[in-house]
Amino acid sequence: MRLTIIGTGYVGLVAAVCFAKLGHFVTAVDRIHVIQDLRENKLAIWEPDLQEMLETCLSEGRLSFDTNVANASRGADALMIAVGTPTGVNGQTDLSQVDDVIAQLKQAGGVCPPFIIMKSTVPVGTCDELEANLLTAGLHSEVVFNPEFLRQGSAINDFMNPDRIVFGCRSHLAKAALHQLYKGINAPIQVCDRRSAELIKYASNAFLAMKISFANMIADVCEGYGADNRQVMQGVGADRRIGPHFLREGIGYGGSCFSKDLQSLLTSGKAIGRSLPLLEATAQINEERIPQLLEKLISLWGNPRGKRLGVLGISFKPNTNDMRDAPFLTLLRLCYLYGIEVQIYDPVVLPTSIEGVIQKDTAYEVAAAADALIIMTEWPQFAELDWVLMVQLMHQPILFDGRNVISDETISQLMMVKNMVYIPVGR
Ligand code: UGA
Repeated sequence: MRLTIIGTGYVGLVAAVCFAKLGHFVTAVDRIHVIQDLRENKLAIWEPDLQEMLETCLSEGRLSFDTNVANASRGADALMIAVGTPTGVNGQTDLSQVDDVIAQLKQAGGVCPPFIIMKSTVPVGTCDELEANLLTAGLHSEVVFNPEFLRQGSAINDFMNPDRIVFGCRSHLAKAALHQLYKGINAPIQVCDRRSAELIKYASNAFLAMKISFANMIADVCEGYGADNRQVMQGVGADRRIGPHFLREGIGYGGSCFSKDLQSLLTSGKAIGRSLPLLEATAQINEERIPQLLEKLISLWGNPRGKRLGVLGISFKPNTNDMRDAPFLTLLRLCYLYGIEVQIYDPVVLPTSIEGVIQKDTAYEVAAAADALIIMTEWPQFAELDWVLMVQLMHQPILFDGRNVISDETISQLMMVKNMVYIPVGR
């Protein structure tokens, strides 16, 4: 098939290389400076395997770039929209980037492909509205909703081996086109109406966020009563009705999706007079994680002003350099308020990307002279550090293990260090 993808952010670029790998001819469209960078092989996102796949697809001629929606749409079998849909004013989803694509299609008239596939997460009812909008210009394309469930850091693998694929569409023709597009991927396919498909995406992310906040809530109870949340969640997750995933306690979820999608679903609920209290509690528990952590630290320090906090890992999770909604940013804001100096080490986030923090080249340099250290991201290499040396380098040996990455064996070694304070989560 000839597929045009608008937007080469996280979702668009991963989809572009993966559909090209499946044998389709893909044209990816974005603004000129983004395309220029891509042509020079400069990727704004760091994702395992993406760079190599991009090079292969380009060299084999299955992927090309364009900067003009109309040009790129001419002759395409389908056009996929993968632009950003951030939170706008009053918690409403900002659909201006989607609207802009639709406006360009309307302006270009006859080149509009028969199927417009929405990949961007959009509030329930959006696809109906977009289709009606196209019709006002005499364009009879069917708008289809095909949510993405990729996780950053394992996006290519998630795309090629998904748990399910959802087609929200009206006609048999659209369904057949989507089947052809995903041919070669072995996964259950659910075909449903568009509004249900739009809600599947929001409800999935809301449920995952809810599981994490649930684990964090029980972790607090564990701390209060001397139980171990890892044991509790192992026992809870062993029930097949619950499942073992997304029950890891820690500093709370971050990333561009969970908070944004929760907010959008809350706003959709409000629009029909529903308050969705489960989602409100999920967000609230998450927002309290970092302030709670800092409270513990301040109670150990007494006066926080002038103290030096070392941070290991600042992206919202390992295997990504994405800083959107990273819990570290909340920590940083609070540290400014308290006059705490912040030094960081991150394996992939570039030094230039965060203002006002001192970035070091190694974890050991961050430990040196720190008044406390916190592990914010569970990069596997953090568990492998020489932790006894790390805490010996510190000014005050206080270690917050925000993701419970330090092994029990290392913890017992650390306990031999004089004045050592080791603070895990939920145990
Ligand atoms: C999430 C969903 O997992 C994807 O299915 C979805 O497609 C994507 O949002 C999206 O809507 O685009 P992602 O944001 O990449 O993917 O990251 P996750 O792996 O879900 O992690 C989100 C956050 O939750 C991270 O900060 C992670 O550290 C945290 N987390 C995750 C926990 O604190 N505990 C867990 O048990 C799992």
